Amino acid sequence: MDDTDYAFRRGRGEYERLIDQAEIFGPLTERMLHGAGIGAGMHGPEGSVTGVDVDGDAIAVAVAEQRRAAHGITNVSFRQADARSLDPGRLFDAAVGRFVLMFMHDPTEALRLFAERVRPGGILAFCEQAASVTATTENTQPALAALLALFTSVFQRSGAQPDIGTELCSRMRDAGLQPHPRPLAEFVLHPAHDTLTYRRWAQFARSMLPKIVDYGLGTEEEIRHSVEHNLRDELLAATGLVPLSWLMISQWARVPAQ
Ligand SMILES: C[S@@+](CC[C@H](N)C(=O)[O-])C[C@H]1O[C@@H](n2cnc3c(N)ncnc32)[C@H](O)[C@@H]1O
Repeated sequence: MDDTDYAFRRGRGEYERLIDQAEIFGPLTERMLHGAGIGAGMHGPEGSVTGVDVDGDAIAVAVAEQRRAAHGITNVSFRQADARSLDPGRLFDAAVGRFVLMFMHDPTEALRLFAERVRPGGILAFCEQAASVTATTENTQPALAALLALFTSVFQRSGAQPDIGTELCSRMRDAGLQPHPRPLAEFVLHPAHDTLTYRRWAQFARSMLPKIVDYGLGTEEEIRHSVEHNLRDELLAATGLVPLSWLMISQWARVPAQ
C-alpha cells in the first residue's frame, strides 16, 4: 500500500507523535493556507474538508475520527485511500498535503493527478521538508546533528525523498501548474531546555527505531544511548533555541483556468 518501505513504525506511539507534531507545525501550516488563499466557504457555504490516508488505522481505529468527533466537528470526513486516486471525477477547490509527497515515488506525477481533481483556478498547497538544510551543526549540537543525519539516511534507504521541499516549485511547474514565486521557508525553533524539544526528537527516534535497526544503521542500545544520554545532556547544556524541524518549504500553485 506504500510506495516506500515506510520509515515509521505505525501504531499508537506513531499517531501520538503525529498529533504532537501537528501542534509544532500548526502555525506554519496556517501561514501556508492563508498565503495560498484557502479559506472559509470553500466547497459549500461553510466549507468542508476530506482527509485522506492510506493507513486506515490512522483514520478509524486510533486517531482522526475520534478526534473529529471529540471536537464536535461536522464538516470534516476521512477516507482510507491513495490520495492520488481519490474520487475520480469529483472536483475539489484545493488539494493540501504535509509530509506526504516525500513518500511518493513520483511526486511530479502525484501533483499532476491531484491537479486533475482540483477545479480550474483552484489551489494545490504542500508543505514538505528540505532535509539537506538544518539549523544545527556538528560544532554546536553534535548529538542532534548526528541524529538528524541518521533520520535522513533512514528516509533515503526507505525510498522516501527527505529533500523534496527544495523541488516543490520545479515539480509543480513540471506538473503543469503555476507555482507562486514566493514559497515560505521556515525552521521551527524552540528553547533547548523545554521538555517539548527532547520529546520531539525522542519520539522521532522511537518511531524510526525498527528501520534504523533493519537497515543496520544502529542497534537499539546505541540509539537509546544517543537519545537518552547524548541528546538529553546536550539539550540540558544548551542555551537558546534549537531546531524542531529541518527547513520546511511551503509551496502553493494555481491550477490553470481553462
Ligand atoms: C509523516 S505522515 C504525515 C501525516 C500528516 N499529513 C501530518 O502532517 O501530520 C505521512 C502520512 O502519509 C500517508 N501516505 C503515504 N502515502 C500516501 C498516499 N499515496 N496516499 C495517502 N496517504 C499517504 C502515510 O500513511 C502517513 O500517514
